[in-house]
Amino acid sequence: MTEEDATNIFETGDIFANRELVRVGHVPQLERVVGRDDEVAAIGRALGPATAGGPPETTIVYGKTGTGKSLVTRCVSRRAHDEARKHNVSFQHAYVDCSDYQTAAKASREMATELASNLGAGHDIPRVGIAASDYRDIAWELLAEYDVDSFVVILDEIDKLDDDELLRSLSRARESGKSDSHIGAMCISNKIEFRERLNERIDSSLQDNELVFDPYDAGQLKEILEHRTDAFEDGVLEQGVIPKVAALAAKEHGDARKAIDTLYEAGRLAEKEGTRTVSVEHVDDAVRQAEVNRFEKLVSGTTPHVKYILHALALLTTDNPEQEGFRTHRIYTLYTKLVERDGNDPLSEDRVYRLLKEQSFLGITESNHTGGGQGGGSYLEHRLLRAPEIVIQALDDSAGD
Ligand SMILES: Nc1ncnc2c1ncn2[C@@H]1O[C@H](COP(=O)(O)OP(=O)(O)O)[C@@H](O)[C@H]1O
Ligand SMILES: [Mg+2]
Repeated sequence: MTEEDATNIFETGDIFANRELVRVGHVPQLERVVGRDDEVAAIGRALGPATAGGPPETTIVYGKTGTGKSLVTRCVSRRAHDEARKHNVSFQHAYVDCSDYQTAAKASREMATELASNLGAGHDIPRVGIAASDYRDIAWELLAEYDVDSFVVILDEIDKLDDDELLRSLSRARESGKSDSHIGAMCISNKIEFRERLNERIDSSLQDNELVFDPYDAGQLKEILEHRTDAFEDGVLEQGVIPKVAALAAKEHGDARKAIDTLYEAGRLAEKEGTRTVSVEHVDDAVRQAEVNRFEKLVSGTTPHVKYILHALALLTTDNPEQEGFRTHRIYTLYTKLVERDGNDPLSEDRVYRLLKEQSFLGITESNHTGGGQGGGSYLEHRLLRAPEIVIQALDDSAGD
């Protein structure tokens, strides 16, 4: 490699000006939050008393993934901190994503760690070896040491938490004399079904407010994406790209995360190709690639034989687009060829039949009984529930790993 080539390996192209803006996990400023004014106001009202040194109202937030629950809650909490400071009040919050910290001990530790870091306290919190309640005691000590007036714990994806010890202790910390600070919780769940369980599990004192985030429509998604276009260099996004991404995401239950992700992936594809603009075709490719990746993940845990069977079914589907389904024997014949081509031994036809029926392949295939017609009995036909190109590409990709 020449010296010049060696320098170029880090070349990032001319697509992105600030790719951080379209990365998942990036928490934009409140000014960039689009179309959630009522929700922002509701959380503002719940935290309002805390910014004046009083008790925060506990709020439970429900809604499907990608509807802005985590974003709005975090943004408003951050803003509450600034607002409180204006009133000489110390407001602190700790964000705990329970999908990463599923036990009371882990979540309590994360709460203490977040609090310490937000306070700028160089506190050494033991990694293991102490009980969940000890972690919480560390948090209560920090609240006292730093004279915190109000403390709000955001328990995101709370349905992943394996018990309600933490939530209960948050609601009781003050009355039980463990802390003099006002303590509240913001509970977030993607599962609306969780509401009943949560209502049974926690005190009525925690049920101050309940908020539901509705899915975004295409117009809102478009606006959300337009607020992120400065992630790209000027003039890079071709006309039609944002409406297309928004329309696709609106069809998939209005998920803003998916919309932003698709836009980012389309940009990456353009970057990889070395083109100067992101086109509607890049969006199509990005969606396709995402589907391939999802499928690859789905089959990653299966055996090589299952993959051969799926490959055979995908090839049959490509070659016979007019046909609804395929009989086991036909799939088996092609499966055998594919296995033997690789120098391996095929399973018996009966075993393949059972594999095909079993769990209908994780929702990848569907098996239906079909009347055999004249003289024939009924038999089972199998078909793919995905486009065969996606299946073949995913199987090829996973073979390369
Ligand atoms: N109203 C909005 N304005 C701007 N960006 C948004 C909005 N809603 C969601 N997003 C973005 O979409 C992604 C998913 O939002 P998030 O809050 O994580 O959804 P949820 O927690 O409901 O699953 C994040 O990257 C977030 O920044
Ligand atoms: Mg979330």
